[in-house]
Amino acid sequence: MKRVVFTFLLALTLFLDKATAILENTTTYIEPVSDGVGIIISLRNHNKNDAFKQRINLFPFSHLNITVTDVPSDIWFIILQIHTFQYNATISYDKALLDKVSNRSLFGSNIGLYLKTHNVTTPIQVFLKHNNVHNLDALLVIVAYDRNAPIPGGCNMEFDIEVAPYQKLHTENEMIIVDTQPASMLADNGLSLLCETNPVQHKMYRLYLPRQDFTPDTYFETIESMLTTQDIVRNGDEIPSGFTSPMRRIYSAYTGTGSVYAAVATHGNYSSAYIPIFTYACSPLLYPETCQVLNDTFAKVICALVLIIGFLLVLIGHKYAYIGRVLSSCMMGGILGYTLAVGISDYNTATNILIGLTSATLAVILSAFLHACKCTFLYNLPLGILCACIAYLYAPAFMFYVLESDWLFWPMFVSLMLTVAVLLTKMSYIAEIITRVVFGSYFVIIAIDYYTGSNLKYIILTLIRRVTISEFRLAFVYPPYQSADVTLTIIWSVLIIAQFIIQGCAKLCDRNMSEIESAESITETTSLFPKRVKKFYGRRYYRPKYRYNRPKYNYNTTFGM
Ligand SMILES: *[C@@H]1O[C@H](CO)[C@@H](O)[C@H](O)[C@H]1NC(C)=O
Ligand SMILES: *[C@@H]1O[C@H](CO)[C@@H](O)[C@H](O)[C@H]1NC(C)=O
Ligand SMILES: *[C@@H]1O[C@H](CO)[C@@H](O)[C@H](O)[C@H]1NC(C)=O
Ligand SMILES: *[C@@H]1O[C@H](CO)[C@@H](O)[C@H](O)[C@H]1NC(C)=O
Ligand SMILES: *[C@@H]1O[C@H](CO)[C@@H](O)[C@H](O)[C@H]1NC(C)=O
Ligand SMILES: *[C@@H]1O[C@H](CO)[C@@H](O)[C@H](O)[C@H]1NC(C)=O
Ligand SMILES: *[C@@H]1O[C@H](CO)[C@@H](O)[C@H](O)[C@H]1NC(C)=O
Repeated sequence: MKRVVFTFLLALTLFLDKATAILENTTTYIEPVSDGVGIIISLRNHNKNDAFKQRINLFPFSHLNITVTDVPSDIWFIILQIHTFQYNATISYDKALLDKVSNRSLFGSNIGLYLKTHNVTTPIQVFLKHNNVHNLDALLVIVAYDRNAPIPGGCNMEFDIEVAPYQKLHTENEMIIVDTQPASMLADNGLSLLCETNPVQHKMYRLYLPRQDFTPDTYFETIESMLTTQDIVRNGDEIPSGFTSPMRRIYSAYTGTGSVYAAVATHGNYSSAYIPIFTYACSPLLYPETCQVLNDTFAKVICALVLIIGFLLVLIGHKYAYIGRVLSSCMMGGILGYTLAVGISDYNTATNILIGLTSATLAVILSAFLHACKCTFLYNLPLGILCACIAYLYAPAFMFYVLESDWLFWPMFVSLMLTVAVLLTKMSYIAEIITRVVFGSYFVIIAIDYYTGSNLKYIILTLIRRVTISEFRLAFVYPPYQSADVTLTIIWSVLIIAQFIIQGCAKLCDRNMSEIESAESITETTSLFPKRVKKFYGRRYYRPKYRYNRPKYNYNTTFGM
């Protein structure tokens, strides 16, 4: 009873000063709105192609009438949008249709309707409703267009609502699929739409949020930066169309990194924007664990193990090359097997671990075999694969047409891989160091990467997706490259360079020493002497012997003879 009275009072106050929002560029906020209340939005002084934005907050299970008034006469239509944070709402042309599935209402979290405003006598009104037990945090947006602007979704053939300025997004198989309907132009008589000889061009854009940022404020800020055509072009990355339908884009999913997808229809000098659509590629509110890459203790323990082994490899890998080799093959095999097992289907954890362990054992055997047969070429292949993966992931956008075809992609991938491997074979000594250095530090990086949820792990994961998911070739893969990734890349480079210097020095010194030692092999110099002293003694006391026992090395200059 108390609640009813409270709601009534609140509704009353809202009725009394019916929230007439003054048009502003900036977002305005209004108090939580209770059931059956209406807001009136005046578009007086509003320019075409500008976005009107207002944050609204609705009580649980409430309705809202939205009425638009004072539309300037040069505005022919508006796109009215509702962006909700995580929860769904229904928007409808008719109040009676709010509770039904129909072709005049829409359910979702990035929804909106096309409203004709020119020469219209009835009130310009839409109805909003939501059935969530929580307050609904939403952003109300109105973008206005003049007579020449293309009508987004005006030539809709597939979606339910006749003019469909919204987009549809679904996630499957680690892919995000975004569908849009073609735009139309008004014919010269101002009534019918031109669809057969459609002259409108469409371009799609994408914008990433900071990784693992699930706050409503970031969400709404990002949506606000993708509403008008100028903002979309300025803030988004254009995504080329592939072999699939020109109105569909397929993206690789980066779990836990939010992304906004926008579309722009252009005809001549005039363009209009579709309603942007959004996904985190997981549900942070309903199922928070889906947004965590590391969601169980076991995976965290494995990650810690990888981190420790990575550090060990970096620090002492060059001293115990054999142990380093076994460890890194073991880890590589294990990670690869485990990821494959997790990626291909949902076995239980025990099965995944078993597959990982089997793959680790196989990798160790294989690496021992490779080392025994001195196949340096095969030994350089992993580095070749890594290079090819990086090239695939960060290839420029125009290469997408090429990469999309399996017939072009795999030959290119394999030849790049082989080229790198062959080049390295030519300098096998350096290659060995590079392989050890790069992979040793990659373990450190990938472990940190899993903890922080950044995106360097996708260097390998994307290739696995490409191999295991048949449709994945159509996906646009360019991953987000944000501050965490930049930091990790810098750490990786520093680790590589540092290791290179340490190992290079160590190897060089060792080689000098071994040369001298082989020359000294007849003598019984004990290694009790520090190296420099040993050299000194060798030179001092055994010099005469060099003259006679010097089959390999020439010490003329070294020893100033
Ligand atoms: C609205 O924003 C745009 C760009 O953000 C700016 O050029 C324009 O002057 C602003 N208009 C008003 C009324 O503040
Ligand atoms: C909402 O719209 C309906 C139908 O047009 C109308 O009956 C009702 O009075 C409106 N409510 C408000 C608060 O404007
Ligand atoms: C919103 O609707 C979509 C599609 O119907 C559904 O998958 C999702 O779980 C819904 N979200 C919530 C919070 O109910
Ligand atoms: C406005 O609408 C009326 C009736 O629907 C129609 O007769 C008239 O031609 C329209 N005017 C314009 C400028 O479209
Ligand atoms: C919408 O649905 C109604 C009845 O369900 C039908 O008569 C009408 O033709 C439909 N309109 C469109 C554009 O599909
Ligand atoms: C586009 O704009 C330019 C200059 O703003 C003008 O010269 C050109 O005629 C316009 N084109 C069309 C198709 O309106
Ligand atoms: C080393 O010294 C010997 C005799 O002093 C000389 O014949 C020989 O050419 C020298 N070798 C080199 C590579 O300088």
